[in-house]
Amino acid sequence: MSSTLHPDGKANPHDTVANSSGNESILSLIEQRQLNRRGFLKTSLGAAAGATAVAVLGSSVVDGLTNYANAAPAPLGGIGFESVPANVAPMTDGVTVPEGYTARVLISWGDSLSNAPDWDPAGAMDEATQLHCFGAHNDGMHYFPFPGKRRGNERGLLVCNHEYVDPGLANNTTSYATDTITLAMVRAQQAAHGISVVDLQEKKGGFEIKRNSPFNRRITGNTACEISGPAAGHAMLQTADDPTGTRVLGTLNNCAHGHTPWGTYLTCEENWNGYFGSNTDLAQTAHERRYGITKGGFGYRWHEADDRFDVNLNRNEPNRFGWVVEIDPWNPRSNPVKRTALGRLKHEGAWVVVDHKNRVAVYTGDDERNEYVYKFVCARRFNPKHPFANRDLLDEGTLYVARFNADGSGQWLPLVWGKDGLTPENGFADQGEVLIKCRQAADRLGATMMDRPEWGAVHPVTREVYMTFTNNSRRGNTPVSSNNPDGTTPAAAANPPVDASNPRPDNDYGHIIRWRENMGRADAIGFEWDIFVQCGDKDTAKTLGGSYTPGEFGGQTLGYKGNINGDDYGAPDGLWFDQDGRLWIQTDQVGDATGDWVNIGGNVMMCADPSTGETKRFLTSPPHCEVTGVITTPDGRAMFVGIQHPGEDWAGNFTANSKWPDNGYNGPTTASDLVMVHKPRSSVVIITRDDGGVIGASNKRHGPKHRE
Ligand code: FEO
Ligand code: CA
Ligand code: CA
Repeated sequence: MSSTLHPDGKANPHDTVANSSGNESILSLIEQRQLNRRGFLKTSLGAAAGATAVAVLGSSVVDGLTNYANAAPAPLGGIGFESVPANVAPMTDGVTVPEGYTARVLISWGDSLSNAPDWDPAGAMDEATQLHCFGAHNDGMHYFPFPGKRRGNERGLLVCNHEYVDPGLANNTTSYATDTITLAMVRAQQAAHGISVVDLQEKKGGFEIKRNSPFNRRITGNTACEISGPAAGHAMLQTADDPTGTRVLGTLNNCAHGHTPWGTYLTCEENWNGYFGSNTDLAQTAHERRYGITKGGFGYRWHEADDRFDVNLNRNEPNRFGWVVEIDPWNPRSNPVKRTALGRLKHEGAWVVVDHKNRVAVYTGDDERNEYVYKFVCARRFNPKHPFANRDLLDEGTLYVARFNADGSGQWLPLVWGKDGLTPENGFADQGEVLIKCRQAADRLGATMMDRPEWGAVHPVTREVYMTFTNNSRRGNTPVSSNNPDGTTPAAAANPPVDASNPRPDNDYGHIIRWRENMGRADAIGFEWDIFVQCGDKDTAKTLGGSYTPGEFGGQTLGYKGNINGDDYGAPDGLWFDQDGRLWIQTDQVGDATGDWVNIGGNVMMCADPSTGETKRFLTSPPHCEVTGVITTPDGRAMFVGIQHPGEDWAGNFTANSKWPDNGYNGPTTASDLVMVHKPRSSVVIITRDDGGVIGASNKRHGPKHRE
């Protein structure tokens, strides 16, 4: 049941009926040429020069070296561990890391952030307990070091998203689909969502939670949030409870994240539509269809006990979700702010880039099949001298959507009211409506439909942007169709043909694209791109099924096998560059090591050299989980990694697929001393090197030389 609440490309019951419009993709109208490797490779930094550039990261010298973007150099310190074996059947119910490393559980769902007791997972979660405990199903996260170079490695705020909840685990029931839903059950689930701010203190090479810290905080599905930017106060955001359209309760389905150079955290609302439903027949508007609002939702059934989530009673409430939300982790009394200038979609995350002239761009993707990649450019520049001057930087600027051309060039198309058909005749009364109906606006502009944009990552020196495209079962399917320019195509309903940036029909294993802005400017309206890797299982015998049209961009030849230079993986999702330029790739597939995943095994975290594509398996995970969320302390010696929904898809009993982490495989947990393991629990693990070196690097002495 739990997987139906997390429509992430597996057997997805929310798959809507195919659009039969037969409209051509905009890309099919563009001259299709084979992608050439471009000039940037000829002028890219060599390994030695690249290492120098990385070594001076953080100094002003860097900006002088990177007036234009280059392909990424080899990582400083290399990649120096032995790959761990794939977690194939019979699967290990734990986290495995390379020889010489240790992974221990740091914090799990229900662990207390105050002096009040931990949750006892033998029973149901209740709202009061959840409000002082770490939330469910942790996802994107960032570590905010305390000021001071050494101190920042010893103490910091770990800020974690809690994407969703498994109602059965939360309410302690194996029959949620048919239970009578009470408001108390719903409130406990809502409290399990949102964000945790956790004050961490280093202790004996590890970290412990400072339970008495005033910084510890829970933000939930009912926390008061502000709405700011061009859509604030818009008629479509007004409700009976909030006639101003500027205050909303809570943030939901907080998937990935971002952080700003002015010290704030960005949390992104992804599959928020699934919480809404209706107790009466729902006559969907085209706007609701485009965003996947349905009578039944994803099966949470909140609308049966909480009127706010009954769409027929609160038609505008869904419009108040789907935003990028900014949080000040250093001020526990501050309200989260929904920044409407960045558009309303199913945001995966938000990745901030400041260029050599302090221009600011935020990259964000809409994670659903056939949706788009966006960039927001702030109207004002970042002010490094006065952090508070940047506080509302995300309220004013231009939102763009990406078109990937077949010749390796790309354009950022501005979503500006009054231009390019974003006019009242086409259903856009003002800029606020363009942002609230962002998908429809992007449809009209002819953006490129992508294979589910997941995380982005920005190289720390070159500012080259990488983004994962996790899969798309509708790519190349028949009958061919595209998102209609009038915005009437239901969510994930089209069958786009293959194109240069999404070259494989039935893209089961996903791929990673990277791009470089023209002249390295954050505000560039043109870029060049290429495919970093097409993922897959080199040993698979799988062939394309009958309902797909073979591709014409090489994908058919490549098939499902992919072109990974190293260990195989698929369904890339989490993505992050460490400060040395190692690319960390996390995956989200079914995680049971069967079928398409029999050789690849369970989910993983890989480490890749962006200059060569060489890729090694660093971490394997328990059955039926995804690996999502990664960050290190500034010195690179402690890495935090998220393990989400271990044992998902259980039936009959909670531990049918996993007993992690309370089975003790990665050290003791708050519940390890109970008589039996009651539930699998999403958790954050901390990874250290036994010799104290930098995580992933080849030379243990590398760290101190460059960092202290
Ligand atoms: Fe929540 Fe797209 O992953
Ligand atoms: Ca994800
Ligand atoms: Ca995913």
